[in-house]
Amino acid sequence: MTAEFSGDDPSLFGAVPVDEPSQSHSSETPFSVDARVLRPRRAAPADTVRATRAEVNLGALRHNFHVLAKHAGRTALWPVLKADAYGHGAPAVARTLERAGAKGFCVALLEEAIELRDAGIRVPILVMGGYYGNHHEELVHHSLAPVVYEGGQLEAFARAARNLGCESVDVHVKIDTGMARLGVRPSELALFADHLLAKSELRVVGAMTHFSCPDGVTTAHAQEQIRVFEEALGVLRRRGVKPALRHAANTAALLRGVGLYDVARPGLGIFGAAPRTEAGVALSEELRPVFRIRSEIIALRDVNVGEGAGYGERWHADRPSRIATIAIGYADGFHRSLTGKASVLVRGKRAPLVGAVSMDMAMVDVTDVEGVTLHDEVVVLGAQDGPLGKDSITAEELGSWSGQIPWEVFCGISRRVPRFYREP
Ligand SMILES: Cc1ncc(COP(=O)(O)O)c(C=O)c1O
Repeated sequence: MTAEFSGDDPSLFGAVPVDEPSQSHSSETPFSVDARVLRPRRAAPADTVRATRAEVNLGALRHNFHVLAKHAGRTALWPVLKADAYGHGAPAVARTLERAGAKGFCVALLEEAIELRDAGIRVPILVMGGYYGNHHEELVHHSLAPVVYEGGQLEAFARAARNLGCESVDVHVKIDTGMARLGVRPSELALFADHLLAKSELRVVGAMTHFSCPDGVTTAHAQEQIRVFEEALGVLRRRGVKPALRHAANTAALLRGVGLYDVARPGLGIFGAAPRTEAGVALSEELRPVFRIRSEIIALRDVNVGEGAGYGERWHADRPSRIATIAIGYADGFHRSLTGKASVLVRGKRAPLVGAVSMDMAMVDVTDVEGVTLHDEVVVLGAQDGPLGKDSITAEELGSWSGQIPWEVFCGISRRVPRFYREP
Protein backbone atom coordinates (compact mmCIF):
# COMPACT_ATOMS: atom_id res chain seq x y z
CA MET A 1 0.00 0.00 0.00
CA THR A 2 1.31 3.42 -0.86
CA ALA A 3 0.31 6.55 0.98
CA GLU A 4 0.53 9.82 -0.88
CA PHE A 5 1.08 13.19 0.74
CA SER A 6 1.33 16.59 -0.74
CA GLY A 7 4.26 18.81 0.24
CA ASP A 8 2.03 20.86 2.47
CA ASP A 9 0.57 17.99 4.43
CA PRO A 10 0.62 19.32 8.00
CA SER A 11 1.30 15.95 9.57
CA LEU A 12 4.50 15.55 7.61
CA PHE A 13 5.93 18.89 6.77
CA GLY A 14 4.15 21.69 8.56
CA ALA A 15 1.15 23.40 7.08
CA VAL A 16 2.90 25.96 4.92
CA PRO A 17 2.63 25.62 1.16
CA VAL A 18 5.82 27.19 -0.14
CA ASP A 19 4.12 29.52 -2.58
CA GLU A 20 2.15 31.26 0.10
CA PRO A 21 3.51 33.74 2.60
CA SER A 22 4.87 31.81 5.58
CA GLN A 23 5.58 32.75 9.14
CA SER A 24 9.21 32.92 8.12
CA HIS A 25 12.05 34.91 9.61
CA SER A 26 12.26 36.80 6.37
CA SER A 27 8.74 38.20 6.61
CA GLU A 28 9.06 39.11 10.30
CA THR A 29 12.52 40.59 10.52
CA PRO A 30 14.41 43.34 8.74
CA PHE A 31 16.62 40.62 7.25
CA SER A 32 14.56 39.77 4.22
CA VAL A 33 16.17 38.59 1.03
CA ASP A 34 14.35 40.15 -1.88
CA ALA A 35 15.24 37.55 -4.47
CA ARG A 36 13.16 34.39 -4.31
CA VAL A 37 14.49 31.04 -5.35
CA LEU A 38 12.41 29.32 -7.99
CA ARG A 39 10.60 26.73 -6.00
CA PRO A 40 8.31 24.04 -7.28
CA ARG A 41 4.66 24.65 -6.70
CA ARG A 42 3.14 22.15 -4.35
CA ALA A 43 -0.49 21.29 -4.20
CA ALA A 44 -2.84 18.78 -2.76
CA PRO A 45 -4.06 16.25 -5.36
CA ALA A 46 -7.48 17.93 -5.34
CA ASP A 47 -5.90 21.28 -6.28
CA THR A 48 -4.25 20.14 -9.46
CA VAL A 49 -6.04 20.03 -12.76
CA ARG A 50 -3.40 18.64 -15.06
CA ALA A 51 -2.34 15.09 -14.30
CA THR A 52 1.36 15.80 -14.87
CA ARG A 53 3.34 15.64 -11.65
CA ALA A 54 6.56 14.67 -9.97
CA GLU A 55 6.33 12.10 -7.23
CA VAL A 56 9.11 12.28 -4.65
CA ASN A 57 9.59 9.00 -2.82
CA LEU A 58 10.69 9.82 0.71
CA GLY A 59 11.35 6.17 1.51
CA ALA A 60 13.85 6.01 -1.36
CA LEU A 61 15.43 9.24 -0.13
CA ARG A 62 15.97 7.77 3.35
CA HIS A 63 17.22 4.52 1.83
CA ASN A 64 19.83 6.37 -0.27
CA PHE A 65 20.92 8.38 2.74
CA HIS A 66 21.51 5.17 4.72
CA VAL A 67 23.35 3.50 1.79
CA LEU A 68 25.68 6.50 1.51
CA ALA A 69 26.09 6.70 5.30
CA LYS A 70 27.19 3.05 5.29
CA HIS A 71 29.85 3.84 2.65
CA ALA A 72 30.91 6.97 4.57
CA GLY A 73 31.63 5.07 7.80
CA ARG A 74 32.75 7.59 10.40
CA THR A 75 32.48 10.49 7.96
CA ALA A 76 29.33 12.57 8.59
CA LEU A 77 26.94 13.27 5.71
CA TRP A 78 25.99 16.84 4.86
CA PRO A 79 23.75 16.30 1.81
CA VAL A 80 23.87 18.94 -0.91
CA LEU A 81 20.39 20.45 -1.29
CA LYS A 82 21.13 23.33 -3.63
CA ALA A 83 18.84 24.16 -6.56
CA ASP A 84 15.81 23.21 -4.49
CA ALA A 85 17.36 19.85 -3.55
CA TYR A 86 18.18 19.08 -7.18
CA GLY A 87 14.59 19.91 -8.06
CA HIS A 88 13.00 17.59 -5.49
CA GLY A 89 11.82 20.35 -3.13
CA ALA A 90 14.35 21.40 -0.49
CA PRO A 91 12.16 21.86 2.63
CA ALA A 92 10.53 18.43 2.49
CA VAL A 93 13.79 16.72 1.51
CA ALA A 94 15.71 18.46 4.31
CA ARG A 95 13.11 17.60 6.94
CA THR A 96 13.17 13.96 5.90
CA LEU A 97 16.97 13.77 5.89
CA GLU A 98 17.38 15.65 9.15
CA ARG A 99 15.12 13.07 10.80
CA ALA A 100 17.13 10.32 9.11
CA GLY A 101 20.32 11.60 10.77
CA ALA A 102 21.90 14.17 8.44
CA LYS A 103 24.37 16.20 10.50
CA GLY A 104 24.30 19.25 8.23
CA PHE A 105 23.31 20.47 4.77
CA CYS A 106 25.05 22.34 1.95
CA VAL A 107 23.40 24.78 -0.42
CA ALA A 108 24.71 27.24 -2.98
CA LEU A 109 22.73 30.38 -2.17
CA LEU A 110 21.94 32.35 0.92
CA GLU A 111 18.28 32.36 -0.20
CA GLU A 112 18.32 28.56 -0.29
CA ALA A 113 19.77 28.38 3.23
CA ILE A 114 17.15 30.76 4.62
CA GLU A 115 14.43 28.71 3.01
CA LEU A 116 15.70 25.70 4.96
CA ARG A 117 15.88 27.63 8.25
CA ASP A 118 12.34 28.86 7.62
CA ALA A 119 11.32 25.24 7.12
CA GLY A 120 12.53 24.49 10.63
CA ILE A 121 15.91 22.93 9.83
CA ARG A 122 18.23 23.23 12.82
CA VAL A 123 21.41 21.38 11.81
CA PRO A 124 24.33 23.46 10.42
CA ILE A 125 23.84 24.79 6.88
CA LEU A 126 26.84 25.63 4.74
CA VAL A 127 26.39 28.30 2.05
CA MET A 128 28.87 27.25 -0.62
CA GLY A 129 28.28 29.67 -3.48
CA GLY A 130 30.43 32.41 -1.97
CA TYR A 131 28.11 35.25 -3.00
CA TYR A 132 26.51 37.14 -0.14
CA GLY A 133 25.78 40.54 -1.74
CA ASN A 134 25.37 42.88 1.19
CA HIS A 135 23.42 40.32 3.22
CA HIS A 136 26.19 39.26 5.61
CA GLU A 137 24.14 40.18 8.68
CA GLU A 138 21.26 38.17 7.42
CA LEU A 139 23.45 35.10 7.13
CA VAL A 140 24.71 35.58 10.70
CA HIS A 141 21.19 36.21 11.97
CA HIS A 142 20.05 32.85 10.57
CA SER A 143 23.05 31.01 12.10
CA LEU A 144 24.35 29.88 8.72
CA ALA A 145 27.95 29.02 7.92
CA PRO A 146 29.52 30.78 4.92
CA VAL A 147 32.30 29.48 2.72
CA VAL A 148 35.09 32.10 2.69
CA TYR A 149 38.08 32.52 0.42
CA GLU A 150 38.88 36.23 0.19
CA GLY A 151 39.72 39.06 2.56
CA GLY A 152 36.64 41.18 1.87
CA GLN A 153 34.40 38.36 3.06
CA LEU A 154 36.30 38.07 6.35
CA GLU A 155 35.94 41.78 7.04
CA ALA A 156 32.22 41.76 6.15
CA PHE A 157 31.37 38.77 8.37
CA ALA A 158 33.43 40.13 11.29
CA ARG A 159 31.54 43.44 11.00
CA ALA A 160 28.20 41.61 10.78
CA ALA A 161 29.02 39.69 13.98
CA ARG A 162 29.95 42.92 15.80
CA ASN A 163 26.81 44.72 14.57
CA LEU A 164 24.57 41.91 15.76
CA GLY A 165 26.43 41.43 19.03
CA CYS A 166 27.13 37.86 18.02
CA GLU A 167 30.11 36.16 19.69
CA SER A 168 31.41 34.39 16.60
CA VAL A 169 30.55 33.29 13.09
CA ASP A 170 31.43 29.76 11.99
CA VAL A 171 33.16 29.80 8.60
CA HIS A 172 34.53 27.15 6.25
CA VAL A 173 37.64 28.02 4.25
CA LYS A 174 37.49 26.92 0.65
CA ILE A 175 40.77 25.90 -0.95
CA ASP A 176 41.22 25.83 -4.71
CA THR A 177 43.16 22.62 -5.23
CA GLY A 178 42.90 22.60 -9.01
CA MET A 179 39.42 23.44 -10.23
CA ALA A 180 40.12 27.15 -10.58
CA ARG A 181 36.53 28.03 -9.73
CA LEU A 182 36.29 29.18 -6.08
CA GLY A 183 38.73 29.06 -3.20
CA VAL A 184 41.98 30.40 -1.85
CA ARG A 185 44.92 29.61 -4.12
CA PRO A 186 47.48 27.51 -2.19
CA SER A 187 50.16 30.16 -2.75
CA GLU A 188 47.95 32.74 -0.96
CA LEU A 189 46.81 30.53 1.89
CA ALA A 190 49.39 31.56 4.52
CA LEU A 191 48.48 35.22 4.14
CA PHE A 192 44.76 34.37 4.18
CA ALA A 193 45.24 32.36 7.39
CA ASP A 194 46.86 35.40 9.00
CA HIS A 195 43.87 37.53 8.02
CA LEU A 196 41.57 34.92 9.51
CA LEU A 197 43.50 34.80 12.76
CA ALA A 198 43.30 38.59 13.03
CA LYS A 199 39.47 38.39 13.08
CA SER A 200 38.51 37.19 16.53
CA GLU A 201 34.84 37.22 15.48
CA LEU A 202 35.41 34.35 13.01
CA ARG A 203 35.72 30.71 14.06
CA VAL A 204 37.18 28.44 11.38
CA VAL A 205 35.15 25.25 11.79
CA GLY A 206 35.71 23.86 8.31
CA ALA A 207 38.14 23.55 5.42
CA MET A 208 36.97 22.21 2.08
CA THR A 209 37.83 21.61 -1.51
CA HIS A 210 35.95 20.22 -4.51
CA PHE A 211 36.98 17.69 -7.15
CA SER A 212 36.98 18.96 -10.70
CA CYS A 213 35.98 15.56 -12.17
CA PRO A 214 32.66 14.81 -10.48
CA ASP A 215 32.80 11.11 -11.34
CA GLY A 216 36.44 10.55 -12.25
CA VAL A 217 37.75 10.89 -8.74
CA THR A 218 40.43 8.23 -9.09
CA THR A 219 42.19 10.12 -11.83
CA ALA A 220 45.70 11.44 -11.35
CA HIS A 221 44.21 14.92 -11.26
CA ALA A 222 41.99 14.06 -8.29
CA GLN A 223 44.94 12.47 -6.47
CA GLU A 224 46.90 15.66 -7.08
CA GLN A 225 43.96 17.69 -5.69
CA ILE A 226 44.07 15.58 -2.51
CA ARG A 227 47.81 16.14 -2.21
CA VAL A 228 47.35 19.92 -2.55
CA PHE A 229 44.51 19.84 -0.01
CA GLU A 230 46.68 17.96 2.51
CA GLU A 231 49.44 20.50 2.06
CA ALA A 232 46.97 23.34 2.54
CA LEU A 233 45.67 21.77 5.75
CA GLY A 234 49.31 21.64 6.90
CA VAL A 235 49.76 25.36 6.19
CA LEU A 236 46.64 26.15 8.22
CA ARG A 237 47.69 23.83 11.06
CA ARG A 238 51.15 25.36 11.35
CA ARG A 239 49.50 28.77 11.80
CA GLY A 240 47.19 27.43 14.48
CA VAL A 241 44.08 27.15 12.30
CA LYS A 242 42.66 23.68 12.99
CA PRO A 243 39.27 23.20 11.34
CA ALA A 244 37.32 20.37 12.95
CA LEU A 245 35.43 19.65 9.73
CA ARG A 246 37.55 18.88 6.68
CA HIS A 247 35.60 17.91 3.57
CA ALA A 248 36.09 17.15 -0.10
CA ALA A 249 33.97 14.18 -1.21
CA ASN A 250 30.93 14.37 -3.48
CA THR A 251 28.85 11.27 -4.28
CA ALA A 252 31.41 9.59 -6.54
CA ALA A 253 34.32 10.18 -4.17
CA LEU A 254 32.25 8.94 -1.24
CA LEU A 255 31.25 5.73 -3.05
CA ARG A 256 34.88 5.10 -3.93
CA GLY A 257 36.22 5.97 -0.47
CA VAL A 258 38.31 8.80 -1.91
CA GLY A 259 38.81 12.10 -0.04
CA LEU A 260 36.79 11.01 2.99
CA TYR A 261 37.60 13.32 5.89
CA ASP A 262 35.23 14.48 8.64
CA VAL A 263 32.29 15.37 6.38
CA ALA A 264 31.14 14.30 2.90
CA ARG A 265 28.88 16.33 0.59
CA PRO A 266 26.80 13.94 -1.55
CA GLY A 267 24.17 15.36 -3.88
CA LEU A 268 23.40 13.12 -6.84
CA GLY A 269 23.48 9.83 -4.90
CA ILE A 270 20.99 11.14 -2.34
CA PHE A 271 18.52 11.39 -5.22
CA GLY A 272 19.25 7.87 -6.41
CA ALA A 273 21.55 8.33 -9.39
CA ALA A 274 24.84 6.46 -9.25
CA PRO A 275 27.89 7.94 -10.98
CA ARG A 276 29.92 5.51 -13.08
CA THR A 277 33.55 4.47 -13.19
CA GLU A 278 35.67 5.38 -16.21
CA ALA A 279 34.85 1.88 -17.50
CA GLY A 280 31.12 2.66 -17.32
CA VAL A 281 30.31 0.56 -14.25
CA ALA A 282 27.78 2.08 -11.83
CA LEU A 283 29.46 2.88 -8.50
CA SER A 284 26.46 1.53 -6.62
CA GLU A 285 23.59 -0.80 -7.47
CA GLU A 286 21.85 -0.07 -4.19
CA LEU A 287 20.58 3.47 -4.78
CA ARG A 288 16.89 3.98 -5.59
CA PRO A 289 15.43 6.74 -7.78
CA VAL A 290 13.56 9.33 -5.75
CA PHE A 291 11.80 11.15 -8.61
CA ARG A 292 9.03 9.66 -10.71
CA ILE A 293 7.62 12.02 -13.33
CA ARG A 294 4.28 10.98 -14.73
CA SER A 295 1.66 12.42 -17.02
CA GLU A 296 -1.38 11.14 -18.89
CA ILE A 297 -2.65 10.56 -22.40
CA ILE A 298 -4.96 13.48 -23.15
CA ALA A 299 -5.78 12.66 -26.80
CA LEU A 300 -5.60 9.59 -29.04
CA ARG A 301 -5.93 9.39 -32.82
CA ASP A 302 -5.28 7.03 -35.71
CA VAL A 303 -3.20 8.38 -38.60
CA ASN A 304 -2.72 6.99 -42.07
CA VAL A 305 0.52 6.13 -43.83
CA GLY A 306 2.25 9.36 -44.90
CA GLU A 307 0.49 11.63 -42.38
CA GLY A 308 2.77 13.86 -40.30
CA ALA A 309 2.73 14.77 -36.62
CA GLY A 310 3.75 17.83 -34.61
CA TYR A 311 5.39 21.16 -35.43
CA GLY A 312 7.27 21.04 -38.71
CA GLU A 313 5.97 17.52 -39.38
CA ARG A 314 9.30 16.07 -38.37
CA TRP A 315 7.75 12.61 -38.32
CA HIS A 316 5.55 10.82 -40.87
CA ALA A 317 3.71 7.54 -40.39
CA ASP A 318 5.21 4.66 -42.35
CA ARG A 319 2.37 2.37 -41.22
CA PRO A 320 -1.17 2.99 -39.98
CA SER A 321 -0.37 4.37 -36.53
CA ARG A 322 -2.02 5.25 -33.25
CA ILE A 323 -0.71 8.52 -31.83
CA ALA A 324 -1.16 9.57 -28.20
CA THR A 325 -0.76 13.17 -27.05
CA ILE A 326 0.71 13.47 -23.56
CA ALA A 327 0.45 16.46 -21.24
CA ILE A 328 4.12 17.27 -20.77
CA GLY A 329 6.39 19.50 -22.81
CA TYR A 330 9.56 21.51 -22.71
CA ALA A 331 8.04 24.08 -20.33
CA ASP A 332 7.93 21.25 -17.80
CA GLY A 333 11.58 20.35 -18.35
CA PHE A 334 10.81 17.62 -20.89
CA HIS A 335 13.51 18.88 -23.20
CA ARG A 336 12.83 19.65 -26.86
CA SER A 337 16.06 17.86 -27.71
CA LEU A 338 14.29 14.61 -26.75
CA THR A 339 12.48 14.88 -30.09
CA GLY A 340 12.98 11.71 -32.10
CA LYS A 341 15.10 10.09 -29.39
CA ALA A 342 13.16 9.42 -26.20
CA SER A 343 10.68 6.75 -25.22
CA VAL A 344 8.11 6.87 -22.44
CA LEU A 345 6.34 4.12 -20.51
CA VAL A 346 2.68 3.34 -21.20
CA ARG A 347 0.97 0.30 -19.62
CA GLY A 348 4.44 -0.87 -18.56
CA LYS A 349 5.85 -0.82 -22.09
CA ARG A 350 8.16 1.57 -23.94
CA ALA A 351 6.65 3.76 -26.66
CA PRO A 352 8.73 6.19 -28.78
CA LEU A 353 8.14 9.93 -29.08
CA VAL A 354 7.10 11.13 -32.53
CA GLY A 355 7.22 14.69 -33.84
CA ALA A 356 8.77 17.63 -32.04
CA VAL A 357 8.26 18.06 -28.30
CA SER A 358 6.22 21.23 -27.88
CA MET A 359 5.82 23.57 -24.92
CA ASP A 360 2.97 21.76 -23.14
CA MET A 361 2.64 18.48 -24.98
CA ALA A 362 4.45 15.71 -26.77
CA MET A 363 3.26 12.86 -28.98
CA VAL A 364 3.93 9.17 -28.66
CA ASP A 365 3.53 6.27 -31.10
CA VAL A 366 1.37 3.81 -29.14
CA THR A 367 0.51 1.55 -32.09
CA ASP A 368 2.19 -1.37 -30.34
CA VAL A 369 0.75 -0.68 -26.90
CA GLU A 370 -2.12 -3.12 -26.65
CA GLY A 371 -5.26 -1.82 -24.96
CA VAL A 372 -4.11 1.80 -24.79
CA THR A 373 -6.85 4.24 -23.77
CA LEU A 374 -7.37 7.90 -23.03
CA HIS A 375 -6.06 8.92 -19.57
CA ASP A 376 -3.60 6.06 -19.36
CA GLU A 377 -0.64 6.97 -17.18
CA VAL A 378 2.59 7.90 -19.00
CA VAL A 379 5.91 7.80 -17.14
CA VAL A 380 8.80 9.86 -18.52
CA LEU A 381 11.23 9.32 -15.61
CA GLY A 382 11.11 6.46 -13.11
CA ALA A 383 9.37 3.11 -13.00
CA GLN A 384 6.05 1.84 -14.23
CA ASP A 385 4.41 -1.49 -13.50
CA GLY A 386 1.60 -2.07 -16.00
CA PRO A 387 -0.43 -4.84 -17.65
CA LEU A 388 2.14 -5.17 -20.47
CA GLY A 389 5.26 -5.26 -18.27
CA LYS A 390 7.49 -3.47 -15.82
CA ASP A 391 10.20 -1.03 -16.84
CA SER A 392 11.93 2.14 -15.74
CA ILE A 393 13.68 5.15 -17.25
CA THR A 394 16.60 6.54 -15.26
CA ALA A 395 17.83 10.14 -15.19
CA GLU A 396 20.96 8.91 -16.90
CA GLU A 397 18.98 7.36 -19.77
CA LEU A 398 16.74 10.40 -20.17
CA GLY A 399 19.86 12.57 -20.17
CA SER A 400 21.53 10.39 -22.79
CA TRP A 401 18.59 11.18 -25.11
CA SER A 402 18.50 14.92 -24.36
CA GLY A 403 22.25 15.48 -24.15
CA GLN A 404 22.05 16.31 -20.44
CA ILE A 405 23.85 15.01 -17.38
CA PRO A 406 21.63 13.50 -14.64
CA TRP A 407 22.20 16.57 -12.41
CA GLU A 408 20.71 18.70 -15.19
CA VAL A 409 17.76 16.35 -15.74
CA PHE A 410 16.76 16.64 -12.06
CA CYS A 411 17.24 20.40 -11.82
CA GLY A 412 15.47 20.92 -15.12
CA ILE A 413 12.04 19.64 -14.01
CA SER A 414 10.32 23.00 -13.91
CA ARG A 415 8.30 24.60 -11.15
CA ARG A 416 5.17 24.11 -13.24
CA VAL A 417 5.24 20.41 -12.34
CA PRO A 418 3.76 20.00 -8.86
CA ARG A 419 5.76 17.84 -6.46
CA PHE A 420 3.95 15.21 -4.43
CA TYR A 421 5.62 13.42 -1.57
CA ARG A 422 5.06 9.70 -1.14
CA GLU A 423 5.66 7.55 1.90
CA PRO A 424 5.82 3.96 0.71
C1 LIG B 1 30.94 22.11 -3.87
C2 LIG B 1 30.09 20.91 -4.14
N1 LIG B 1 30.15 19.87 -3.32
C3 LIG B 1 29.40 18.75 -3.52
C4 LIG B 1 28.55 18.64 -4.60
C5 LIG B 1 27.74 17.38 -4.80
O1 LIG B 1 28.17 16.67 -5.92
P1 LIG B 1 27.42 15.35 -6.43
O2 LIG B 1 26.06 15.79 -6.85
O3 LIG B 1 28.24 14.87 -7.57
O4 LIG B 1 27.38 14.41 -5.27
C6 LIG B 1 28.47 19.70 -5.50
C7 LIG B 1 27.59 19.60 -6.67
O5 LIG B 1 27.68 20.23 -7.68
C8 LIG B 1 29.25 20.87 -5.26
O6 LIG B 1 29.22 21.93 -6.10
